[in-house]
Amino acid sequence: MARVSSKVRNPYLINHKLRWSSKFSDLYKAGIIFFADASKFLPMDYLSSGFSKVDSAQDQSVFVSCLQTLCSLPYFQNYKKKSIQILAPRNGSRLLEIGCGLGEDALGIAQMIGEQGKVVAIDSSKKMIEIARKDPMKMDSIQLCLADACNLPFRDGAFDGARADRVLQHIFDPRKAFAEMVRTIKDKGRLVVYEPDWGTFIISPGQKEICRTMTQLFGDTFPSGWIGRQLPGFFQEEGFEKIQIRPETFSTDDLVLAIQVFDLVNNAHRAQKMGYVSESQVESWLEDLSEAHKQGRFFCSYTGFLVSGEKL
Ligand SMILES: C[S@@+](CC[C@H](N)C(=O)[O-])C[C@H]1O[C@@H](n2cnc3c(N)ncnc32)[C@H](O)[C@@H]1O
Repeated sequence: MARVSSKVRNPYLINHKLRWSSKFSDLYKAGIIFFADASKFLPMDYLSSGFSKVDSAQDQSVFVSCLQTLCSLPYFQNYKKKSIQILAPRNGSRLLEIGCGLGEDALGIAQMIGEQGKVVAIDSSKKMIEIARKDPMKMDSIQLCLADACNLPFRDGAFDGARADRVLQHIFDPRKAFAEMVRTIKDKGRLVVYEPDWGTFIISPGQKEICRTMTQLFGDTFPSGWIGRQLPGFFQEEGFEKIQIRPETFSTDDLVLAIQVFDLVNNAHRAQKMGYVSESQVESWLEDLSEAHKQGRFFCSYTGFLVSGEKL
C-alpha cells in the first residue's frame, strides 16, 4: 500500500501514487480514498452527506435548523425570489416542487396561483413532510407527498412547470431525477433548478494545502458536489429551449455564519478522523480563522447556478 509522508494527506497526491491492487476497504481505513467516493461511506449527521437521508440521521433537528437559517439569509431569499419569478406561477397553474424541505417555497408559490391552481411538493424525508404538514397554511394550499425525485408518482406532462432548489446535490443519480422532472412537465413547461457547485468553494486565510483539503472534502462528500456545472448540460441534453444560466455567488466575512452554513468545524473534525489532517492542524487552522475573523480578514464563498429553460 502507498505510504504517505506529507503532513497534510492530500488525496489527490495520494491517488496519483496509488496502485489499485489493495482492497477498497483497506484504503478507506487507511484514509487513502478518493473524496468523491467518501459520501457513500460516511455517517448521515454531516450537512453535506446527511440531506440525502435525513430520516437516518441521529439528530434530524440539525437539518431542520439548517434550512431555517439559510431561508433567513438575503442571498438565499434573493435567488429564491428570482427562481420563482422565472417559474412564473399564474392563476390556475399546476406546479411541482421537488425536495421541498419544510415547504416554505412551495407555500410562496401556492399563494400566487389562486384557488384553481395547484402546487404539489414532494420530499423523500418523512420528517420534512411531517413538519411541513404541521403548518395549517401549508396543509390547506399544498399537496405534500413523500416521494423520491428519481421515481415520481405522476403521469407524463402532469404539470405546467417544476422547480428544484439545492436538491440534486444530495442525489447520487441527479440525471435520473432531472429526467423525471422533465417527464412530468408538459411541452413548453418551465423548469427552474438552483444547485451549488462545490468546486467553487473557497476559504481564506489558511495554509493552502489545509484549505484545499477542507473545501474538497466538504464538496466531495455531497453525493453530487459538482452538479452546478453539470446542470446546463442536462438542459441541453433534454432539448430545452431558452436556456438561461445565472451564476449566483454567496460570500461572507462572518466566521460564525460560515460555520453554520458550511459545517466548517464538523467538516474539519471529519478530515481529521479520515486521517487527512492531524488534530493540531485542525486546531491551528480553526484558530487562524478565528483570529482572521476578529481582524476582519476572514472570507468564504461559493457559487450556485440558477438554470432554467422551456421544454420543447
Ligand atoms: C438542502 S434541502 C433543500 C430544501 C428546500 N428545497 C429548500 O430550498 O429549503 C434538500 C431537500 O431534498 C430532500 N431530498 C434529498 N434527496 C431526495 C430525493 N431523492 N427525492 C426527494 N427529495 C430529496 C431532502 O430531504 C431535503 O428536504
